[in-house]
Amino acid sequence: MQASHDTSLTGSLQLTKTGRLKHFLTITGLSKELLTEILDTADSLIEVGERNIKKVPLLRGKTVVNLFFEASTRTRSTFELAAKRLSADVLNLNINTSATSKGESLSDTLKNLEAMASDMFVVRHAQSGAAHFIAESVTPGVSIVNAGDGWHAHPTQAMLDMLTIRQNKGKFEGLRVAIIGDILHSRVARSQIRALNTLGVKEVRVIAPNTLLPKHVESLGVTVYNSMDEGLKDLDVIIMLRLQRERMQGALLPSESEYYNLYGLTTERLKMAKPDAIVMHPGPINRGVEIESEVADGEQSVILDQVTNGIAIRMAVMSMAMGGQMEERQLKQKTHNELSESEERL
Ligand code: CP
Repeated sequence: MQASHDTSLTGSLQLTKTGRLKHFLTITGLSKELLTEILDTADSLIEVGERNIKKVPLLRGKTVVNLFFEASTRTRSTFELAAKRLSADVLNLNINTSATSKGESLSDTLKNLEAMASDMFVVRHAQSGAAHFIAESVTPGVSIVNAGDGWHAHPTQAMLDMLTIRQNKGKFEGLRVAIIGDILHSRVARSQIRALNTLGVKEVRVIAPNTLLPKHVESLGVTVYNSMDEGLKDLDVIIMLRLQRERMQGALLPSESEYYNLYGLTTERLKMAKPDAIVMHPGPINRGVEIESEVADGEQSVILDQVTNGIAIRMAVMSMAMGGQMEERQLKQKTHNELSESEERL
């Protein structure tokens, strides 16, 4: 299931015949129009979170199952809140106490959950391609949303980041954005690079030591910088990444303090970017490793806004994917009825 780069897992599986979303697996293959529709839908759903009764009936009667095979705080909680705000019934499967821990395969776990008439699986898995694998084998009508698979993709994270950028900058055209740190192990960076380029920013930079950059990273449509002093110049948006020690094999860095000296975002370094540059981070943040506390909590930081936006983006994606599935089901039913009628006439 391991995928070495994003293009190996195309996105055609995630669209209906009429081009609507039915699964949300990757940014790859999605048009600027579709990404903009996700952002616009999320924008219209933000006010639900400001209501006294934070609910709309878009997924009423539907069952959403959260399947997190890897640790998560932000993604799992905001998917749960999003599904509840859409009025879905939500099941959070605890992998540690489920039959998976007794050796049951992923396919068998899913078959059992499908037998409970689930309508949507939100999946986080350490294996790249896990969400695609499930989408290929799941019963028609059931929607799969990728909540992060291995090093491959984290598409809802990228879209909540795009929403945060659009809220602060108004548009994508003309923006210079840098993603800084452990690009090599980052599914978030891969999805962000796709989304930023599709939405038409002026420049996407990656700033990192060569040991933390994927081979041929330029082919994704980025400019490479090894120096913070050079890379931070003229930036509108700074996206910091965590060092993903759990995915590192061997010594890729001399030490965390050496890394902080060279690539940590400090108050002094932040001054090299534009004065109105925003500072982002998908979390979890490691203070004093990739970012100074004063910067993480400072006026230019929008890190907690990203978390809030995660709810609206996930509401948008879930409601759009369920709409696509329902459209597909209706089309199949119509075709079936038409065939039956023509058979009766014969
Ligand atoms: N950004 C992100 O995916 O955070 P979690 O691992 O806490 O979900």
